[in-house]
Amino acid sequence: MAILSPSILSADYMHFHEDMDRTKADGAKWLHVDIMDGQFVPNLSFGYAWVKSMRKITDLVLDVHLMIDRPIRYVEEFCKAGSDYLTIHVESDTPENTLAAIEKIRSLGVKPGIVVKPNTPAEAIEPYLPLVDLVLVMTVEPGFGGQKFMEHMMPKLKQLRTMLVNPNCHLEVDGGVDLTTAEICKANGANVLVAGSAFYGAADRAAFVRQIEA
Ligand code: DX5
Ligand code: ZN
Repeated sequence: MAILSPSILSADYMHFHEDMDRTKADGAKWLHVDIMDGQFVPNLSFGYAWVKSMRKITDLVLDVHLMIDRPIRYVEEFCKAGSDYLTIHVESDTPENTLAAIEKIRSLGVKPGIVVKPNTPAEAIEPYLPLVDLVLVMTVEPGFGGQKFMEHMMPKLKQLRTMLVNPNCHLEVDGGVDLTTAEICKANGANVLVAGSAFYGAADRAAFVRQIEA
């Protein structure tokens, strides 16, 4: 069964708490939180204080996607803030620091994830596959919601499904996912689907959750 991870980046920030509660009422079990630093990606979003406040008011699975330069500097704060999954970009630091960040996340009782940008091949994350609980394949360039789905990422997704060594590891996609593209991703091996603009813009969000998770 697939899991929907609604991206709160597309929520209404003046009604954030309400949107979180409504997301749960609509049947979602996960919440995707995009953290951007204006360096690794040309956009800014939330910090760890935000995750901490979210943790206080929800028991949804917090699926935190770090789009920040040298994430090792902040993984401890994001773990302590209450992330359930904490995912770092393979492109954001040296292999030594990436490994150290994954180990740090694990040691703090949080599930580590690794993510690849569209131009990064699957092989780049091969060394980390035995160590993570989530692999994320970007289907847009990270930084902004509302971009067009890159269908040419599907061979990489399919390849990663065959490369996973941990049987409990999730394979997630992020970017341009709607009810149509979600089916393409599922057919190519994804089991967690992030959706921001399509989910928060849907007329019937509960039906959206049901269709993705069917
Ligand atoms: C993009 C973010 C996504 C974004 C997805 O950098 O990682 O999580 O919120 O938004 P949509 O679903 O609108 O493409
Ligand atoms: Zn994301």
